[in-house]
Amino acid sequence: MTKVTVHPTGEVVEVRDGETIMGAFYRTGYAMRIGCKRGGCGFCKIDVHDGAFEYERPVSDEVVTPAEAADGVCLPCRAVPTGDMVVEFRENSLRLVNPLMRYMLSSKEVPARPSHLSTTV
Ligand code: FES
Repeated sequence: MTKVTVHPTGEVVEVRDGETIMGAFYRTGYAMRIGCKRGGCGFCKIDVHDGAFEYERPVSDEVVTPAEAADGVCLPCRAVPTGDMVVEFRENSLRLVNPLMRYMLSSKEVPARPSHLSTTV
C-alpha cells in the first residue's frame, strides 16, 4: 500500500494496490474537482512534487502536454502510484466532504456500543 501526501496541508491518504489517486481520496471522505473521470478532459490535473505514477488505463494524449508531463502534471482519475507520492491540488480543489468516514478509516479501534442501545433477547 502506498501513501499520497498533500502539499502543503499534510493530509495523507493510503492508496490500495491498483487504486487511482482520485479513487483513494474519494474512498477516504474527500472530494475534488472532476470532469470525465476517464483521462479525457484535464479538469482533475494535479502537480506531483515527489514520487511516480503510471496510467493503467489510457488517457488522452492531448490533455497533458509533454511540457506539463515533464513538470509532473498528473491526471489522478487514471493515475496509480508506483510508490509514495507528494502532490499538490490546484485552486484548493481538494475538500473534505465526509469527516465521519475519514475518522472511521483512520481509527484503529471500533467504538464500544453505548449501553442504552443494547438489546435483550
Ligand atoms: S476528470 Fe477528466 S481527465 Fe480526470
